[in-house]
Amino acid sequence: MSVVRELNHVAIRVADMEASLRLYRDLLGGKVIRNARTPDGTGHFVYVQLADGVIEFIQGKPGADNLGLQHIAFLTSNDINEAAEAARARGYTFTVEPKEAASKDGYLCFFKDSGGTVYEFIQREENIRIPNLKNDRILEFDHISIRVDDESRADTEYLVKNVFQMPIRQVYERAGAHMIYYKFGPDTIELLYGADKPRPANPIIHIALRVADSKEIYRYLTENGFSATEPKESGLGGFYITNVTGPDGEIIEFLDRPSMDVYNPK
Ligand SMILES: [Fe+2]
Ligand SMILES: [Fe+2]
Repeated sequence: MSVVRELNHVAIRVADMEASLRLYRDLLGGKVIRNARTPDGTGHFVYVQLADGVIEFIQGKPGADNLGLQHIAFLTSNDINEAAEAARARGYTFTVEPKEAASKDGYLCFFKDSGGTVYEFIQREENIRIPNLKNDRILEFDHISIRVDDESRADTEYLVKNVFQMPIRQVYERAGAHMIYYKFGPDTIELLYGADKPRPANPIIHIALRVADSKEIYRYLTENGFSATEPKESGLGGFYITNVTGPDGEIIEFLDRPSMDVYNPK
């Protein structure tokens, strides 16, 4: 059995909570499922569920320059120390050792792999995700993308395969693109390979949402003041992609292909 029982969220640190809620809750139809402040009032965390996926928005400190996508969090199956040991055994660097959460709700720790991707383990009882949440615009929280290169791939692959025990959902290797998707319940992580592009300091490079119509999303979000790339046909063929930049520089990839369980390019 895996030491984790759920991919709980992907986190974004934000300059302005209201600006993020305007996009993810008001425009994209997400539901706020958790709204927590630390007892001293300085920390503010809002969880928004979009289709089956959850984003944690963390209020950044005034003037913070570490905004945008931050980490991928898992709920542990049992005691957090058991999960932490599974990661420690492989030599991952802990940036926060297991400790009680600032919200006093459970325990958490953070560590990173050699590629620089940060992961969080959380030991917490409550289940806050709404099953089968419907949204007319967002059909599926398609994936969270991590860029890997030759140097970092073994380490990241070891984590998803051996520590999290995520099975492969889909492999695409076509038209210069090489992606492998790993699944955990309703959630999917994309490992994006490519020696052509340098691995950024934070390799969590985008989140992807599956929509009915990428061109409609492009019009809708640009009309509402967001910058987006012109919808273009995917190199995999048959569907369109538009990349929208969120309020804190995070990239949201909108895809209008069928679910990857049925979409299987030649
Ligand atoms: Fe988190
Ligand atoms: Fe992607």
